[in-house]
Order: sequence, then structure tokens, then C-alpha cells
Amino acid sequence: MQILLALHHTEIREMLGFSVESRTGVKPFEAGTAKAAIQSLADHGAIRIVICEYPGISDVLFRHIISLNRTREDKDQIRTIVCAAKKPEDDPVLQKMNILGFASTAKLIDSTLNLLFPHFTDVNSRTTPDSDKQLTDDDTCRIKTTLLIRVGLLQAGVYIRLSPTKYVKMFREGDQFESNDYQRILNEKSLEHLFLRKDECSEFLNKFKNDLLVLVQAETLPENVYPELLEAIHETTSELLNKLGMTAEIQEVIKANVSLTIKAMGKSPKLSDILGKLEIDRDKYISSHSVLLPQIACTLAIAMDWKSEPTLQKLTLAAFMHDTVFTNQALAKVDNLTELANRKAEFTEEELKQYKTHPVKTSELAKQLQEVPPDIDTIILQHHERPNGSGFPRGLAYQHISPLGVVFIVAHDLVSALFDQTRPFVLERFIEEKKSEYVSGNFKKLLGHLVALKL
Ligand SMILES: [Fe+2]
Ligand SMILES: [Fe+2]
Repeated sequence: MQILLALHHTEIREMLGFSVESRTGVKPFEAGTAKAAIQSLADHGAIRIVICEYPGISDVLFRHIISLNRTREDKDQIRTIVCAAKKPEDDPVLQKMNILGFASTAKLIDSTLNLLFPHFTDVNSRTTPDSDKQLTDDDTCRIKTTLLIRVGLLQAGVYIRLSPTKYVKMFREGDQFESNDYQRILNEKSLEHLFLRKDECSEFLNKFKNDLLVLVQAETLPENVYPELLEAIHETTSELLNKLGMTAEIQEVIKANVSLTIKAMGKSPKLSDILGKLEIDRDKYISSHSVLLPQIACTLAIAMDWKSEPTLQKLTLAAFMHDTVFTNQALAKVDNLTELANRKAEFTEEELKQYKTHPVKTSELAKQLQEVPPDIDTIILQHHERPNGSGFPRGLAYQHISPLGVVFIVAHDLVSALFDQTRPFVLERFIEEKKSEYVSGNFKKLLGHLVALKL
């Protein structure tokens, strides 16, 4: 079943498009005018759901849909989700439509997804082929070899990847291999990653979660937890999240990781200690900055005297999730839409779109987490906003950015400066340069605290 998004505003259309795709697995067609929408319906006969605004470009389009439906059987009817500020009453045109539901513009993404959800099976319902010969990148998950060593013996088969469509089984189910075998692979063959079939990841995830919980409960943590282990967890969990969606098992792993990160941070984290252990590795930007970020964000929040457990959990979870959709390290490093436009030639069309919509997509993913403190999705959604309103996706000015959103943005700016390969990081210069930008509200307050943080 295909979907058409007929919405006038490009940014809203793109945000909703990405959310619909991530939740249903169906990439919707898009149209910004009634004419383009009618053309799209003519070009793509499989469109059965149209999402459009009311009033707006709808009237001509509505009449066209009514005339198409007149000649169609019930199963082929085009159903419409009407996005409106208020549910329209007594509209004679609407009464002739096959309406799937009304989505309130105030909660456009949530209400649209709720209406769509019952009509789609899960995005991950594609079955993994029985034969190993048919395995492709879509059927497997890439796991850090070091993490496989940690969890030990698995019943599942473990594969190496020769090409996007060729996998070879390294260990068979139930093979009596030991951690030495993995260690040999890591050392002799330099295989930093091994692969599991998507449909056989449960066992790994359960063992992995238990391993993390043992660390959470341990009296003292081994040396290599920060940053090596936390980075490996971030990389592998992001891969599993992108391949399997927000399953109950992945949620457990993410929550265990948050507890471990907070434990590794200690009661009063000092930035100088954190930075002492920092290794700037450009090739691992996504995981490295996502692991450094909670440490810095929590330190800033504590400096503002916001140090409750839920606050630290929110910032840590937001940091873990905020860039999980990226696989291109260079793309994740882009700071804003101006930089993206200047470096357009380096990325594909799909990547450009992925960048523009990633705050929405990752905040949508965060909403699927059960039993976590509220507002994590807001922090994630706002992580590319700027104090003067020049950010994206909403262009919010400082007074509309949530307090923890501000902490997160400032921490992210610090992390970007730390990862800047063009010049060494100097806190005094960072503060000086930000004085003209952090001029109001919590941004200004945080700037004051930065002076005292002694990096
Ligand atoms: Fe980021
Ligand atoms: Fe980002």
C-alpha cells in the first residue's frame, strides 16, 4: 500500500515523510500542490492513503479523490487523513470522502502515525532468508568483535562479510569456540566486526544486557569502560536499532547502557578527567562524540544545580540516541544546514535528506522507549536549534528551547570544538567566541558556569 503526503509546507512534509517511513517502512510520495498531488495519484496507482491539510491545497484534491473513489471497489478506495487545527464540522465535500481520521496540526506527527499504524505491519517484518547463500546486508547486524568476546559462547551462527551480498559462516550454531577464537580473529585477521543474522540477534542482546547489568552492579568498574566499552556499545546498539527497530530487548540494552554511563561518570564528574582519557578518532566520530556528550552535558547540568537522577538519565539517553540514524561519520559531524549546503557535493541526496530530518527521526525513535523519564524526545528534537532562532528543524529562539535542551546544545557545541581538527581546543577562546551568541536566558547562565569548570 502506497501513501501520498500532500502538504504545502516543505519542511513539515519532509519531517512527516521521514517519520512515516521509519514507522511503516513505506516511503511516501510527496506533493506540495493540488496539481502535483493529482499527478502523483495518476502516476502511482497503488496509492491508497492520502495525508493532506484542511483547509489548504485540499479542496481541488478532495474533489478529485471523490471522483476516483466513485469508480473503485471498497478495497481499492483512497482513504484520507485530514490534518486540521480543529476537526472540521459539516463540510459537504468531506462528507463524501472516505476519511481514515483527523490529525490535529498541533500534534501532527503523533496523531498521523497513530492513524496509520493499524494499517501497516512492522517495518522489520521482512523475513530473513533460510539459506546463508542468500544473506545480504539487509539480513545481518554488524557486531563489534570485542563485544562478542565479552558475551562468550552463542548458539547463533557468526558470520564474516565478504561483500554486501556474500556472507560466510565463521562459527556454527553450538560450535565449541572460546573467547580465544574471537581474539585470534581480532588479532590475526584484523576483523573488527563480525555479523549475526537479524533473526538470531535475541540471544546476543540478552547476554549483552546481562553483561552490562553485572558491570552496573559491580563495586568498581574496569579501566576500559570509558571510553572503549561505551563506544563499542554505542556503535553496535545503533546498528541493531537501525536494523531491528526499537525492540524490547534493545530498549533493555539502551537502559543498561545509560546506567553504566552514569556509573562510569561518578558522582561529581570533572571535565579534566574526562578529557584526559579522550581519544579523538575522526573515523569513530558518531560513537565517540555520543559517549563524550553525556559526560559533558551532565557536568554542565550539575553546574546549574540540576542534578537529580532523572535529569542525568534524560541527558545521557538523549546523547546516546541523538545521532543514531547516521552511518556516515562525515555527515554526523556537520554542524548546521549552512555547512551542509556548502558541502553538498560530498553527500548523496538521501544523506542530505537524512541530515535535515535526523532530529525528528531520532526523537520519534526515543518516543518508543518505554518507562523512561519524559521529554527526552524534546531534547533530541531541539539539538540543532540555536539561541538566535537560526537552527533547525523548527528555528526556535532561546526562550522556546527547553532548559535541558539548552544544556544539551551547549554541551554539543563544546564537543564539536573538542573534535575540531583544525585547531587545538582552548576553553577561554570557546567562551570568548560564544559570548556574542549565548546572549540570553539559560545560554548566558551556562556560559557563566563554563568559566568555573576548569577544563
Ligand atoms: Fe551530534
Ligand atoms: Fe545531530
